[in-house]
Amino acid sequence: MSEPSSTEAACRLVRLAETGRPGVTIHHGGRPLSALAGDTLLTALLCNGVTLRRNEFDGGPRAGFCNMGACQDCWVALEDGSRLRACTTEVWDGMRVHAPDDAP
Ligand code: FES
Repeated sequence: MSEPSSTEAACRLVRLAETGRPGVTIHHGGRPLSALAGDTLLTALLCNGVTLRRNEFDGGPRAGFCNMGACQDCWVALEDGSRLRACTTEVWDGMRVHAPDDAP
């Protein structure tokens, strides 16, 4: 499976409402990303065109599935070693998430 172009990657999720919330900065694989206070981590990552993880069978990009805490497809690791579901966890300023290729 090929990687999406940079245009496709930037369009995984498009914010249409609530654009006036305060901004926060999270880090994904050491790279700073912009998010809004109250975003779930999955929303923040998808708004930045980030792949959540890689499919264990074919290496294709994954971006969660249900977005409501049911499928367990969005577990990610933080740099402190803790793990959480990206779709049910709100971001906080300074949150540091492992990228798929550097996850423990
Ligand atoms: S996307 Fe399904 S549990 Fe998070």
